Order: sequence, then C-alpha cells, then structure tokens
Amino acid sequence: MKEENHLHQQSLLHLRKIQLQHLFSPKKLNSATTYLFFFAVAYALGFLSSYTIIQQTTPQLQSPPQTHISDSELFRFNSTCADPVPSKLVRQTLLDRLFNGSSPFDAFPPPHAVSLLRQKRIKGWGSTGAVFETLIRRVKPRTIVEVGSFLGASAIHMAELTRRLGLKTQILCIDDFRGWPRFRDRFRDIKMINGDVMLMYQFMQNVAQSNFTEVILPVPFSTGSALAQLCDLGVHADLIEVDAGHDFHSAWADINRAYSILRPGGVIFGHDYYTAADNRGVRRAVNLFAKVKGLKVIPDGQHWVLA
Ligand SMILES: *[C@@H]1O[C@H](CO)[C@@H](O)[C@H](O)[C@H]1NC(C)=O
Ligand SMILES: *[C@@H]1O[C@H](CO)[C@@H](O)[C@H](O)[C@H]1NC(C)=O
Ligand SMILES: *[C@@H]1O[C@H](CO)[C@@H](O)[C@H](O)[C@H]1NC(C)=O
Repeated sequence: MKEENHLHQQSLLHLRKIQLQHLFSPKKLNSATTYLFFFAVAYALGFLSSYTIIQQTTPQLQSPPQTHISDSELFRFNSTCADPVPSKLVRQTLLDRLFNGSSPFDAFPPPHAVSLLRQKRIKGWGSTGAVFETLIRRVKPRTIVEVGSFLGASAIHMAELTRRLGLKTQILCIDDFRGWPRFRDRFRDIKMINGDVMLMYQFMQNVAQSNFTEVILPVPFSTGSALAQLCDLGVHADLIEVDAGHDFHSAWADINRAYSILRPGGVIFGHDYYTAADNRGVRRAVNLFAKVKGLKVIPDGQHWVLA
C-alpha cells in the first residue's frame, strides 16, 4: 500500500515536473505569453470602452469658448432678409412652404370639429380703431402682416377695408393660437380637447363665416419663428400690425423682427401704446425702437405708428 502510495506520489511529482517543463518550454512559453498578451489587450479594450462611456456621460469640465459679449447684443437682429417675393406670389409661397401646397381652409371645418366651434365668435380690443382705415388708405398695402391675431377681429376688419377700397390684399396672421395661460378664464366657450384649445379653428371659422378665406391666411407659429421664416422666404409686407405679447421683451423682439420684413415705404404700427400691462412694456419697447432707428412715434387712438 505504502509502496504503491509512494510510487503514486512519485508519478504525480513527475507529472507536475513534466507539466512545468512543458509550460516553460520555448513553445509553450510562446502560447502562455500570447495568452497573457491577449488578456492584457482584452483588459485594456474593456477599460478603454468603459472609459469612453464614462467620458460620454460625464463631459469634462472646460471653460466655455470666449465670446465677446456687449450690450449691443440686445440690439442685434438680422435686418437682411431674402430678396422679396412678388406680392402676387406671397400666398402661394406660404401655401407651398407651410401647408404642403393646399389651403388650410380646404374642407374646413373637419367633421370632428364642427360641434366644437361656434358659428362666429369674435372678440377683440381696439380692433376697429380709425388707425386701420387711415393707414390702409395711405399705404394701399398688397401684403399685410398681423403679429398677434387671436380670434381675427382686426384681421377681418382690415379685410373688409381692403375689399371696400378695391385693393387686392393678402393678410397674413401670425399667431400660435394658444391665447395665453388662463385665457379661458374669460373665454370658457372656446373649447379645449386634451389641452388643445380650439383657437385656430375658431379663428378660421370666423374668417370663413366672413367670406375671407382667400384674403386671410393663418401662420400658426410663435411670432419669433414665423417672422424669421418670412424673412428667410423673402415675404415682405407693406403694412405690419404688432399686437402679440405685451411685455417689453416680447414686444421688443416682435417689433425688431417685423421691421426687417417691412418694405421700403411701408408702415409698422401696433396696439396698446397706453396700456399699463407688464409695466408699460409695449410703450417702452416702441420708444426704445424709435430712438434706436431715429423714427418718430405717432400715437393714434390706442395705437402707436412709427414714421
Ligand atoms: C402633400 O402633397 C402631396 C402632393 O399633393 C401629397 O401626395 C401628400 O400626401 C401630401 N402630404 C401631406 C402630409 O399632406
Ligand atoms: C358670405 O357669402 C355667402 C354666400 O355668398 C353670403 O350668403 C353671406 O351673406 C356672406 N357673408 C358675409 C359676412 O359677407
Ligand atoms: C439673415 O437672414 C437671411 C435670410 O434668411 C440669411 O440669408 C442671412 O444669413 C441672415 N444673416 C445672419 C447674420 O444671420
């Protein structure tokens, strides 16, 4: 037994010796090195890839690129728009670029919206002031841009005036047709579905009821992006009415952007020169703009006109 055991141990030792010799023989050394090498490479790759992920999710802190900031940034608006599209092509240009080539009034109202709309629901403020007729008679506009339309009261009034004066005028109504937060406190009859207020449809319904679907076109985007788009497309206006946000910053941006698409000899005017809203934001914006451009503010009823 013992002898056997000893023999067994000897053969085990021998075996181990052979294994060790084998392992460190030049040939096996090679494959061991190779093994270690691949292990190291794989480890390094794993490390690198995890390092890359870490780098992607936690951007390294670095100082922002240096830009020269000065007060003049507040006055920097793009005043060079694309070459003017001829007046008679303005409507088609917008139908093509914004509405896939067809009028939003085609087949309006859609069946699902009929019960949500009132036959005609118009409410505006100062929408029929004398200033509209005075300026339309003076300018004889081919293109009018209205910035801030709500339910269309002043747009429809201007359409009536241009028709009466025999003018072929296109009126573009820029509005996001969201109203303002909580506007339904005062306009409960404007329906809301899943948070979507029916303002654009009611505006269109009012336009359709007044037979002005060929004269008035909604441009249903924020005033900033819509005015920038008109500038890009070369859609210029002879008469521009600004009556959207009444805080200084909204009014300031709207007036500056609108002015860039005003044709030479055109007139820009707006509502609520005297309102106390937002700390007289409109008046401060209009006065600053007039000062910067060397223009004169001429109040007319509730409106301001720049000359
Ligand atoms: C846009 O107009 C084309 C051509 O009239 C029509 O084939 C396509 O379905 C329209 N696309 C949409 C989204 O209405
Ligand atoms: C619109 O046109 C229809 C059909 O011609 C007419 O009956 C209606 O009185 C017109 N509405 C207005 C407001 O002009
Ligand atoms: C101003 O707008 C025009 C027309 O969209 C554009 O071609 C031009 O690059 C803009 N200029 C600047 C300084 O943004």
